[in-house]
Amino acid sequence: MTRWQDFYDVDLRVLTAPPSDFVKFAAEWFTSVGAKTILDLGCGIGRDTCLLAASEFEVVGCDMAMSGLTHAQRIANEKHLPIVFQQADARDLPFSDAQFDAVYCFGMLHEFTGENYQADIRTIMSEIQRVLAPQGLLALAMLSGDPQAGLPHVRLFTAEDLDKAVHGFTPLFQREHNDIGCTGIRPYRMWQGIYQRDIRAFSPSIELNLIQTPVSPGESGENIRTTGQKFHEKYARAMQRLAGGVEK
Ligand SMILES: C[S@@+](CC[C@H](N)C(=O)[O-])C[C@H]1O[C@@H](n2cnc3c(N)ncnc32)[C@H](O)[C@@H]1O
Repeated sequence: MTRWQDFYDVDLRVLTAPPSDFVKFAAEWFTSVGAKTILDLGCGIGRDTCLLAASEFEVVGCDMAMSGLTHAQRIANEKHLPIVFQQADARDLPFSDAQFDAVYCFGMLHEFTGENYQADIRTIMSEIQRVLAPQGLLALAMLSGDPQAGLPHVRLFTAEDLDKAVHGFTPLFQREHNDIGCTGIRPYRMWQGIYQRDIRAFSPSIELNLIQTPVSPGESGENIRTTGQKFHEKYARAMQRLAGGVEK
C-alpha cells in the first residue's frame, strides 16, 4: 500500500485542489483524435478524472489507495458524473487489452522509489501499452529534476529517465513545465507529454526528428521536444493550437 492511503485520510487540503492545467491540455488532444474511453491511472481523489468525465469522455479512474477512491466516488456522485472507479496496482491492471482510447497519468510515475523502481516503471509502461488501443494516446506527467536533490518520498525524473520510460511510444508533444502538484498548494516543475502507442500503426513514413531547446536556470521558457516536419498534419496543427492556447 502506498503512503497515499494514509495521506487521503488525514490531509483534506487535497480535496480543494483544482484540476491541473495539464488535464485541460490532454483533454483537447483526446478530443482531436476522437478518443472516447479514457483511463485515469493514479487518479487519487479524482480532481482530473472529474474534468475528463465532464468533457464527455467515458472515464475509468484507477488508483491503489482506497481512501482516495472513496473521496473520488463521493465527489463524482455529487457532480452526477458517471465515472467507474477501480482499485488496482498500476503494475497489474485489471483491464482488457486495447480497452482504452487514451490513458491519462498525472503524478504517479515519480512515486516509485524502491530499489526496483526501474522495473516497476517498465512494468507500468508496458501495462499502459497493453490497455491502449492501437494508435491510442498517453498523456503523461511527472515531477522533473535531479533525483539526488529531490523531495522526500519521490524520485524526480531527468530527461534521460523520461526517455527511457516512454521508449516504444511516439512522442507527439513534450515539455518541461510548471504545474500545480496534486495538492494544488504550489507549482512544481514537471515533464508533460502526449505520446502515441506504436509508431508503425500510426504511420510508417514518420521520421523522428527530436528538437530540444534547453532551459537555462531562472528562465521561464519551455523545454519542448516534439516531432519534426514530417509529423502527421492533423497532430501538428493541434499541437500548435494547443501550445498557444495553454501558455500564460
Ligand atoms: C501525486 S498523487 C496524484 C493523484 C492524481 N493523479 C492527482 O493529480 O490528483 C499519486 C497517486 O498515485 C497513486 N499510486 C501510487 N502507486 C500506485 C500504484 N502502484 N498503483 C496505482 N496507483 C498508485 C497514489 O495512491 C496517488 O493517488
